[in-house]
Amino acid sequence: MNTRCKILEQPELPYSVEEAINRLRINISFLGSDIRKIMIISSEPNEGKSFIAMNLWRQMASAGEKSILIDADLRKSVMIDNYKISREDGKELWGLSHYLSDNKKLVDCILSTDLENGDILPNANNIVNPSLLLESRRFSDLLNQLAEEYRYIFLDVPPLGLVSDGERIGNVCDGAVLVVRSGVTPKGIIRNSIAQLERAGCPLLGIVLNRVGAGENKYYGRYYSKYYGKHYGNKYYTDKYYSQKE
Ligand SMILES: Nc1ncnc2c1ncn2[C@@H]1O[C@H](COP(=O)(O)OP(=O)(O)OP(=O)(O)O)[C@@H](O)[C@H]1O
Ligand SMILES: [Mg+2]
Repeated sequence: MNTRCKILEQPELPYSVEEAINRLRINISFLGSDIRKIMIISSEPNEGKSFIAMNLWRQMASAGEKSILIDADLRKSVMIDNYKISREDGKELWGLSHYLSDNKKLVDCILSTDLENGDILPNANNIVNPSLLLESRRFSDLLNQLAEEYRYIFLDVPPLGLVSDGERIGNVCDGAVLVVRSGVTPKGIIRNSIAQLERAGCPLLGIVLNRVGAGENKYYGRYYSKYYGKHYGNKYYTDKYYSQKE
């Protein structure tokens, strides 16, 4: 039995955001049973990877698909703090870096949640250089093992532009969802990220245009549908809610 956890901070999302994530969820479910290990990546920090990963996992699990969310941002993980995650029994949390480096048992690191089909593998201890751990056999074996137990594995990872962790993780995933911050991420950088994913042998499953502000989405929408629409097809717009908040 996995340890149970409490997630105290889970804000309700506006309908438009829920709907955008819902569309992403449905499109992912049409990709076929071979697509199980999915990395949520972006070019730069702060584009919304962790937000999309958490909400996509929640919706997928709520829809009855057994899903696990892995916090694979081993250098600067914020999931536990942002969502105020703790063990129900009050004991110390263990997570991915403990499993990979300390030989902790998986069952002591995976947390079950209020969602019947939703588990979490958090990261409870940041490390300075996780490259070797992410390249290790133990990491790829872990993903393969989880892929037998869970229908979907969502990995929240660091941005491609900063460190090479994303490429390493992408290399052992079935595909990636690229999150792009609307109106902010330069086109050249996005192109670079797509090339990096290709080099890593990680198929691009779709692009999420996140934090869309008024008047910005047209430009990005046209650009992507023209250039990538034929090959990849899927774009998902999260709403105008963010720009209203800022
Ligand atoms: N569509 C959205 N609607 C509302 N808030 C959002 C949305 N996308 C992201 N945010 C908020 O923006 C902030 C940055 O998002 P997040 O932490 O998910 O980015 P990130 O890409 O994971 O960043 P990092 O590269 O630092 O890991 C967070 O406070 C998050 O809640
Ligand atoms: Mg993040």
